[in-house]
Amino acid sequence: MGIIINKEENIFSLNTTNTSYVFAVDNEGLIRSLYWGNKIKNIEDFYITKLEEVSTNDPVYEITPEEFPVCGGLRYKEHCLKVNFNDGTRELKYKYIGYSVVNNSLLIKLRDEHYDLEINLHYIIHEKYDLIERYVTLRNNTDTSIEVEKIYSGQFHIPYENLNFRNVHGHWGAEQQMFTQKVGYGKIYIENRRGISTHNHNPYFILDKDAKETSGEVFFGALKLSGNFSGIVEQTPYGETLVQLGINPHDFALELKAGEEFKTPAIIAGYTNEGFEKMSHNLHNYGKNELMRDGLRDVLYNSWEATEFKVSCEEQIKLARKAKELGAELFVVDDGWFGERDGIDNGLGDWYVNERKFPKGLNQLIDEVKSMSMKFGIWFEPEMVNPKSKLYKDHPDWIYNFKTREADTSRGQYVLNLSKDEVKEFVYNTLDNMLSTYDIDYIKWDANRPISQSDVRRDIWYKHIQNLYDIVRKLKEKHKNVYFEACASGGGRIDYGSLEVFDDFWTSDNTDAYDRLKIQDSYSYIYPIKAMRAWVTDCPNFLSKRNIPLRFRFHSAMMGTLGIGCNILKYTKEEEEIAKELIDEYKSIRHIIQEGDFYRLENTSSNDYYLYQYLKEDEAVVFAFLPQSKIGHRGTRVKLRGLEENKKYKVEYLNQVIEKTGEYLMNYGLDIKLSGDYSSCIVRLSRTLNY
Ligand code: DGJ
Repeated sequence: MGIIINKEENIFSLNTTNTSYVFAVDNEGLIRSLYWGNKIKNIEDFYITKLEEVSTNDPVYEITPEEFPVCGGLRYKEHCLKVNFNDGTRELKYKYIGYSVVNNSLLIKLRDEHYDLEINLHYIIHEKYDLIERYVTLRNNTDTSIEVEKIYSGQFHIPYENLNFRNVHGHWGAEQQMFTQKVGYGKIYIENRRGISTHNHNPYFILDKDAKETSGEVFFGALKLSGNFSGIVEQTPYGETLVQLGINPHDFALELKAGEEFKTPAIIAGYTNEGFEKMSHNLHNYGKNELMRDGLRDVLYNSWEATEFKVSCEEQIKLARKAKELGAELFVVDDGWFGERDGIDNGLGDWYVNERKFPKGLNQLIDEVKSMSMKFGIWFEPEMVNPKSKLYKDHPDWIYNFKTREADTSRGQYVLNLSKDEVKEFVYNTLDNMLSTYDIDYIKWDANRPISQSDVRRDIWYKHIQNLYDIVRKLKEKHKNVYFEACASGGGRIDYGSLEVFDDFWTSDNTDAYDRLKIQDSYSYIYPIKAMRAWVTDCPNFLSKRNIPLRFRFHSAMMGTLGIGCNILKYTKEEEEIAKELIDEYKSIRHIIQEGDFYRLENTSSNDYYLYQYLKEDEAVVFAFLPQSKIGHRGTRVKLRGLEENKKYKVEYLNQVIEKTGEYLMNYGLDIKLSGDYSSCIVRLSRTLNY
C-alpha cells in the first residue's frame, strides 16, 4: 500500500517501491516533515516530538521543518505562500482540517483560522518510479478577492548539511552547462524572470551527499513549469537543508476572486541511495512511460541551416528528395515559408503561405513529400509578431506593453499577450486552420525572445504559459496525429511542464557535435533521451567554426532522436554514403536509444573519452568519443552496466566481434582505443541465444 496513515498520531507515510516520504500534523497544528529516504515500512516507528522554542529569537516556527510554511506569525524564513486579504491583513494562520485518500493520492486540507481560504496540499505517488508528485490548490470561499503575492509548489527537507547542489547555467548556444556547488549557510537562488523560457537555469534541484554515478544519496525534484520559476536552497542554522520550487514571485501577483480556485504547477521529486544514474532512470522512465507518446521518433530532416530565410518551393523539394534518398522519414520546413518573411523583421503574425516562395501553394511541397512516404512538418513562432506585419497593424494592442512606454523589440519582434483571451483564440485558430487545411504531421513551435513591458496584471507570467499549454493540448486533442516540438531559441523550453504537453525538445541551436556532448550529458540527468532532438549539421559549424568529421557528427546526434540539418544538396558522394549508412544504423538501434536505459559510463583513462551506454532488454549500444587524441595514448577500458552477469553477449566494434559474459563486461570492461582527433565508434551488444 502506497499511502499509510497513523490516524491517532496524524502521521502520513507515502511509500514508493524503495522510498518513504513521511510527515505529520504536530501539536501546534503544523504540517511537519519527518522523513524522506529509504523505505521504512513500519509507520509505528515514527513519532512526533513536541517542539519547544530554543530562545525568543528561535521560535517554534523557525525550527519546525514545515511541509508548507506560510507567511505569518513568528516566521522569518522563506515561506511558500503569502496572501493579502481585502481588509489589509497580510498574514496567514492555518489550521489542519483533515485529509482524504483516493487511490494513490493524498490530500491534506488546511484552512485559515479566520478567513475561509482553503489551502490544499496534494500528493501523488508514482510507486514504480520511486517518485512523488506534489502541488497545491487554493480556494477562496470568502466573498471578496484575495491577493496571492507568492505561491510555491512545495518545500522539502533534507536532514543534512554540506550537501552538493547541482543545476545548469548557460545561455543561447550553450544551454545545459551543469555545475555543482557546496551548500553552505546563506541561500542559493535559481530563477527565470524572462517569461517565455530561459537558457540560464533549469527548474529542478539535485542535492546529493557526495554521491557518485552509481552510489550515494540523491534528493531531487523538477517543476512542471516553463516560464518564470524560482528555486531556493538553504542550509538553515538548525542542522538541515531545505529546498523550495515554484512560480517566481518576482513581479508576480494573482487576484483570487471570491469562489475561485488556483492550482500550482506540480513538482515531481524523488530520493535514491544509488547515485545519479538511478535518479536519471527513475525520471526518464516516468517521462517516457507516463508523459510521452508511445512509438519511436522519426529521423527528421530540417531545412533551416541549409536555406535559412531563403525558402523556395523548388529548393525545398530538392532537399526533401535528397533527404528521402538518405533515409529521412520526416521533412520539416523551418522559418521563412510564410507572410513577407525574408529576414527577422517581418512576417511573424501573418501566417499565410508566401506566394512568391510557393507560387503553386504549400501543397506542391506537401504532396511531393507525401508522395515519397515522408511525413511533413512546419515551423511556427505563434507567440510573436513583427511590427511590420499586418497582424500588428490590425491589433497593436495585442502585444505586451504599458500604455506610457514604447515596447522593446528583440530579434525585430514583439511578444503577443497570450494571457488575453482574444490572443489565445487567435493563436489556436491560426494553428487549427493550418492543421485542418494542410496535411501536417509535425509543428516546430519556436519562441525567440523574452517578455518585456509585460502588463498591468502581474499574473501574466504564469497565465501566458498556461494558455500556451492549453492551446497545444487542445490542438493535439483535435489533431491527434500531430507531434509538437518545443523550441525556444534552441533549448530554452526544456522542462517537465513542456514535456507534459509537447513531444520533442529542440536541445540547442549549438549543433557543434563536440559541444553537444556536454549539453547532452547534462540534459540526460533529468530529461528522457527520447525527447532530445539532435541534428547533424554542416562544417565549419556556424557557431564554433570547428571542422568535425561527419562520422563523429552523426554519432553525437545519434545519441538522441536523430535529425539532419545539413545542406545535403552539397554532400559529396562519400558524405552521402556515410549519411545513408549511419541513418540506416540509427534506425536499427533507435529502439534501444529512445526506449532503453541510459548510462553515463566512467572514463578511466587520462584521455578525454566520452562514453555512454543504452540498454534495452538483451541489446545494448555504447558510444565512444575521443575529441582530442594524445600522442602515445593507450586507449581506455570502460566497464559496462546493467547487463546480466551470467549471460553471454556478442560484442561488435572497431572491426571485431567478440563474445563475453555480462560479468566480464561489467567488471573487466571493454578495451577501446580510438585514434586521431574527433574519432568515435559505436559498440553493438546483443545477448547470444546459445548460452
Ligand atoms: C531558432 C531555432 O532554435 C532555430 O532552430 C530556427 O528554427 C530559428 N529560430 C528560425 O528562426
